[in-house]
Amino acid sequence: MEFTSFDARGYPIVDVRTGYAGWAATYEDTVEDTMDLALLDRLRTPAWSSVRRAADLGCGTGRTGSWLRERGVAAIDGADITPEMLDAARARGAHDRLVDADATATGFDSGRYDLVIASLIDEHLPDLAPLYREARRLAAPGALFAIVGFHPHFIMTSGMPTHYTDDTGRSVAIATHVHLVSEHVRAARENGWRLVEMEEGVVDEAWLERKPKWERFRNHPVSFAHVWELG
Ligand SMILES: C[S@@+](CC[C@H](N)C(=O)[O-])C[C@H]1O[C@@H](n2cnc3c(N)ncnc32)[C@H](O)[C@@H]1O
Repeated sequence: MEFTSFDARGYPIVDVRTGYAGWAATYEDTVEDTMDLALLDRLRTPAWSSVRRAADLGCGTGRTGSWLRERGVAAIDGADITPEMLDAARARGAHDRLVDADATATGFDSGRYDLVIASLIDEHLPDLAPLYREARRLAAPGALFAIVGFHPHFIMTSGMPTHYTDDTGRSVAIATHVHLVSEHVRAARENGWRLVEMEEGVVDEAWLERKPKWERFRNHPVSFAHVWELG
């Protein structure tokens, strides 16, 4: 679904690569751990320390990779289309291999990963099916696919795209798409994935401490985490 009909901000919109190139230097200062890492903390699957090799799709600056390393994931390969984000990930050193590649066509070996993870990228994809298909291609027998994202309800109700402040102080939106939960389920099922676990994060006290202006969104779902297994 196009985001434009929900847009309450009217920021100028740039494509993903331009946007993250502009955001890379300040990304880590502005992204909220409550959005994604807090949800990963709540998941009961996978048993992170038993993951031998993970593929981190849309790895960005390496936040997700670092979180996985801290939980004992043995080896992690990352793919991203923004060179400036990859440079930051390289400096961070959480990944064994980093490639400048689309999350839907990574070029990584088929069937080698017991975990595929994509955190905070689905809203940038016009269509979810290629992401779930690539996750399936990469998956080893028994693999899990963990996907974490900005909740479609929140994007709609807030009218807020993924955005950042550029070096002139201007707010800039990065091309954003809205995917209903049913779109995830359809794309996953069509590619052989079955839901194991789902968590939703709401705007709670932890969020409101960071974002007092979000009081009107109190208790609204703001992010989700799904874990899929091969059916
Ligand atoms: C919000 S960041 C998330 C980075 C990291 N996973 C994290 O949680 O901090 C989104 C990242 O997805 C990347 N991205 C967006 N669309 C992509 C695509 N089609 N293929 C690969 N990377 C993509 C962007 O370049 C950016 O680095």
